[in-house]
Amino acid sequence: VRAVTVIPGKQGSVALSQMPEPPSEDGRILVQTQVVGICGTDQEIINGDYGEAPPPGDRLIIGHEALGRVAEAPPGTGFAAGDLVVGIVRRPDPVPCPACAAGDWDMCLNGRYTERGIAGRHGYASERYRIHPEYLVAVDPGLGTLGVLLEPVTVIAKAWEHVEKIGRRSTWAPRTVLVTGAGPIGLLAALMSVQRGYDTYVLDLVTEGRKPEMVRWLGGTYVHTGDLSEAAAAADIVIECTGHVQMLLEAARHHVRHRIVCLTGVSAAGAESMVDPGLLNRNMVLNNNVLFGSVNANRRHYELAAAALSQADHDWLAGLITRRVPLSQWADAYSRKPDDIKTVLTFSGETA
Ligand code: BGC
Repeated sequence: VRAVTVIPGKQGSVALSQMPEPPSEDGRILVQTQVVGICGTDQEIINGDYGEAPPPGDRLIIGHEALGRVAEAPPGTGFAAGDLVVGIVRRPDPVPCPACAAGDWDMCLNGRYTERGIAGRHGYASERYRIHPEYLVAVDPGLGTLGVLLEPVTVIAKAWEHVEKIGRRSTWAPRTVLVTGAGPIGLLAALMSVQRGYDTYVLDLVTEGRKPEMVRWLGGTYVHTGDLSEAAAAADIVIECTGHVQMLLEAARHHVRHRIVCLTGVSAAGAESMVDPGLLNRNMVLNNNVLFGSVNANRRHYELAAAALSQADHDWLAGLITRRVPLSQWADAYSRKPDDIKTVLTFSGETA
């Protein structure tokens, strides 16, 4: 099969490679890949900062956001040829730890989990892959290729679930949400915020173009980074989707009671902070604030995400996909353009 691969840790090693047919140990279901989404994690893997190849080879097939069509599914698996599907990214650790044993592999306690296309397992940017049915999720056929957005929505579905669980620690009446970052994760966080009926503000660096339009189309308010302070002053919930923690530390300067701040973006270590830790501590304690991080998703979050996608305006979702690049021009898909929101790589089997 043709697949996009890297030698993890080696910058410049990304290539379209001929790889062996997916082995039967990978699962009883054979999936034909249709569309693969590209995200910041793929860029980090390509840059050699992240990723791990499965033994015994040195190459890793990347791709963890993928919509496929079932090619072969034995009876009793719950799937049939022709079904539109998305593969789950993470696999539980082999011990398993108490969290993985309960299906909460997104909260793995020993860090020995694996992730398809990222850590220790081949991904989905391959013409075909095999998978066990318990790691496969059916996608609403009405979504068509928009189903490629399911995996990024799962990350946000988990973030929202955890915000709400933390919120139940006492009586709470949140009204205003601030999302930092109008990339795909930020816009999907805003979608789920609007679906919950919150007054939604989305902050980004740009002053014009598709991102502010997408926020307004949702019924949210677009805020330029320069006006962060004002938007942050009111937000009961902050979903941070950029990795630029400075922005949310700014938010922590304001007094909002019972504020919950969720970090979903990943940043590099070594940033200089202008924040006064004393002020941060004081405001968090005196206002019962919570700051927490969230990564990955378990099967329940895939189900929540599938429901959120089905309920969304499909034209709005289509607006998130700003470039579709055929596999033959794969390298172009991995080079960032200024107006990109979500770029996807299309495989020959792509449906309309
Ligand atoms: C993926 C997550 C994954 C994380 C860390 C993200 O891009 O969406 O599923 O857990 O990277 O590897």
